[in-house]
Amino acid sequence: MPASPDASDPGVSVQWPLPQPGPLEYPPVRLGVMASGNGSNFEALVRACRQGTLRASVDCLVVNRAGCGARDRAARLGVPCHWVDHRLHPEREGLDRELIRLFRASCVDLVVMAGWMRIVTPVLIAAYPDRLLNIHPSLLPSFRGMDAVGQALAAGVTLAGCTAHLVRAEVDAGPILVQAAVPVLEGDSRESLAARIQVQEHRILPLAVALLGARLLGARLRTSGPDPAQG
Ligand code: GRF
Repeated sequence: MPASPDASDPGVSVQWPLPQPGPLEYPPVRLGVMASGNGSNFEALVRACRQGTLRASVDCLVVNRAGCGARDRAARLGVPCHWVDHRLHPEREGLDRELIRLFRASCVDLVVMAGWMRIVTPVLIAAYPDRLLNIHPSLLPSFRGMDAVGQALAAGVTLAGCTAHLVRAEVDAGPILVQAAVPVLEGDSRESLAARIQVQEHRILPLAVALLGARLLGARLRTSGPDPAQG
């Protein structure tokens, strides 16, 4: 688990929920990740798994842009990567069905949208009920949708941040799992604020997966575990 933030340091985030003292109890989680861009959140998940701070494995990355950074990172990290060309699926549901096919083939438990720049439909959401997460660069419910960092700067807020949340059909409106707040500093540009927010995204996304793993998969383990009557 990450160390407790020093709330007196303006360069450091405050994260909710605060880090737990002990390890979360949950069986290993198989992750599928969806990305369209640079892929730094994808890499943060892979690193957390490999460093042992997240009891999970990233078993499959799906990208929708052939030349995206996430695809290069997957090659470097040795994670299986599939490119799905969204232009071949004029209806969003068709693209989602292809994603489901790929994730089922990799037997993933949870799916993480880590910079996926397409709107998903109830087809994908229903295939992974309460198991589909998104990371968004604002303190939701403020600044949903595109250019959340620019929206925050334009609004003149003094506190920005990021949110890991469950996905619902309404964009950026699902139940919140973890948030981290960062200060907006004097003279911040879109780039400088986005960079500070991304540092926190890389912390809270693995934590959100762990929380969901403990909540969902731990419950499944408890209900399907060995019968105590059998000794
Ligand atoms: C992140 O800022 C995330 O909040 C948003 O898209 C960005 C993806 O960044 N949904 P990266 O591709 O993981 O570096």
